[in-house]
Amino acid sequence: MNQDLVTPPHVKPEQIVDFDIFAEASLQDNPHRGYRALHATAPDIFYTPRNGGHWVVTRFAQMAQILRDPQHFSSRELTIPKSNSDNVMLPLNLDPPEHTPYRAVLMRHFDRKVIAAMEPTLRAWAARLIEPVAPAGRCDFSENLGAAFPVSIFMELLGVPLERFEELRAIVKEYFSRTTNARYIELQNTMIAIFTELAEERRRAPKDDLISKLLAETVNGRPLTLQELQSIGFLLFLGGLDTVANALTFAFHNLAQRPDVQARLVAEPEKIPDFVEESLRCFGIVHQTRIVKQDIEIAGVQFREGDMVSCALPLAGLDDRCNPDPDRFDIDRQNREHIVFSTGAHLCIGAALARAEMRVFTEEWLKRIPVFALAPGVKLDWRAGQVMALMNLPLQWPT
Ligand code: HEM
Repeated sequence: MNQDLVTPPHVKPEQIVDFDIFAEASLQDNPHRGYRALHATAPDIFYTPRNGGHWVVTRFAQMAQILRDPQHFSSRELTIPKSNSDNVMLPLNLDPPEHTPYRAVLMRHFDRKVIAAMEPTLRAWAARLIEPVAPAGRCDFSENLGAAFPVSIFMELLGVPLERFEELRAIVKEYFSRTTNARYIELQNTMIAIFTELAEERRRAPKDDLISKLLAETVNGRPLTLQELQSIGFLLFLGGLDTVANALTFAFHNLAQRPDVQARLVAEPEKIPDFVEESLRCFGIVHQTRIVKQDIEIAGVQFREGDMVSCALPLAGLDDRCNPDPDRFDIDRQNREHIVFSTGAHLCIGAALARAEMRVFTEEWLKRIPVFALAPGVKLDWRAGQVMALMNLPLQWPT
């Protein structure tokens, strides 16, 4: 065995599967399919000695149990391999009760009412990005639209000048690719520096943007410190700049291959929210990590203090124990279950925004490009890891 492979003595031999969440061959040519195969070939919870050694949880019920149990499973360390970074992302890296007041601050700026008020902005950005490409009859969706749309909205919301788009996108892309611990920390520090510069500007001259609003916020009866603001900003960069981009690109990769669903959504746009939800169920994005804080046994597995645990959230919606015939893409599906936005105390704060972005973008796209397909002859470039992505998506349509 290679020196990098780590298996602690409390792991039983039958629980070990040699599986590299970044580089596994089965994930390189469509990671959703590669992960789904684990339901047939691996134990529900298995241990891989790769990347510092960690557990992988593949079933909805056990993932939900772990994510709803911060007493045993902490959010203090979320990177595989362990980053050992001192940078804390607020509120993501805190466990309740410390987590609660910070989450409350952010929820005030991401609740349904706030998102509903943003709808005209979302629609205007969708139109602004789709209109120039529509007459061309082809595009690379992932870069020109999937990424540009949520990133533009997010930068406007937060108050980041739009000319920094390329710089921020490059940082976030590298952050979610496989890189060294030293580089992760360097990238974290770069993002924090960008946010700090903006916060200082807004402190001098507030505007009607999220950075200015956060500067006016209080937590536990006092203003947020600069360090707390930096860490919230850092998390928002990560949460807002890559996740929706990948969710939209996965959804459109699938829709491009389903002329029947395209026709249905054009005829019945009121089904678009169901399309979004079914896309999220089938094509999840984030694998959510925890570090074991206190020993516990679940389904015959001994989780020991310090163990890293990866909950494969994209597999939860594909679990046949909660969604019958889970590989069937069905916008009419009843009682659909998934946890792509996690569950428990850390349930994604941006979920309403993400869903609204996906819905509005799909509505605006189908108004202008009702029929489209994958362009032939281009190799798709998938990225596995903790946040999965499709780096290119060539589409074509009749003009
Ligand atoms: C499809 C898009 C998205 C997906 C799949 C996603 C996924 C997730 C997941 C899985 C978590 C939970 C982490 C945990 O359990 O530890 C999370 C938390 C979070 N997300 Fe998202 N996210 C998305 C979009 C967004 C957006 C657009 C924003 C904000 C602009 C955002 C902001 C956050 C924040 C602030 C948290 C931390 C919540 C807490 O710790 O209480 N997310 N997200």
